[in-house]
Amino acid sequence: MNETVNETASAAKPEVSLEQLHHIHHAAYRCRDAEQTRWFYEDVLGFPLAAAMVFDEEPGANKKRDYMHLFFQMGDDNFIAFFDVPDDVEEKMFIARHGFDQHLAFEVDTMDELKAWRRKINKAGRPCFGPIDHGFIHSIYMYDPNGVQVEVTVRDPNYDQILADDSAKAHEVLKQWTEKTRAAKESRLGADVLDMRGIDLSKVDMTKVKKP
Ligand SMILES: [Fe+2]
Repeated sequence: MNETVNETASAAKPEVSLEQLHHIHHAAYRCRDAEQTRWFYEDVLGFPLAAAMVFDEEPGANKKRDYMHLFFQMGDDNFIAFFDVPDDVEEKMFIARHGFDQHLAFEVDTMDELKAWRRKINKAGRPCFGPIDHGFIHSIYMYDPNGVQVEVTVRDPNYDQILADDSAKAHEVLKQWTEKTRAAKESRLGADVLDMRGIDLSKVDMTKVKKP
């Protein structure tokens, strides 16, 4: 939330390691309306509103624009964040997106808790369905007011074993999947983009990226 970054006093560059990227600080989405979104995340799901920051300039774009950046705090101090941009909002932005494209999943500890959440969500007037058995987890689903699919999930009793088995073969399964699907994807997308590893600047809107 704060753009100030603590830099090491030493000239030596710190090593990077997986442990440094230790959790998601926030995931951010567009919202139709700050108060409507606060109702769902704070009153229904129970995440306290931790910040409602008002800005009048789009960062990095040197462009005057009034907007609010909202942060809801989860139990482990991560945040779900939203942008409310009154002069750049259209209803089509909030068409419910397929779970394949985007969804958020929160975790509870027991199946009883999961079912209690389904009842609570339905009582609040948001349709909620499930649990769906995914093998390693069981989940209920709903949509927030902005078209973001929200999942609440509980681990299966065999979760650790299932994941350990899957993890042991994950790279091999992925390799076989790539071989099986490559031709169909090449015909839809082209080999160039499938093989791309850096950023193809011709396909990126760089107008909003701050020059160093
Ligand atoms: Fe999921």
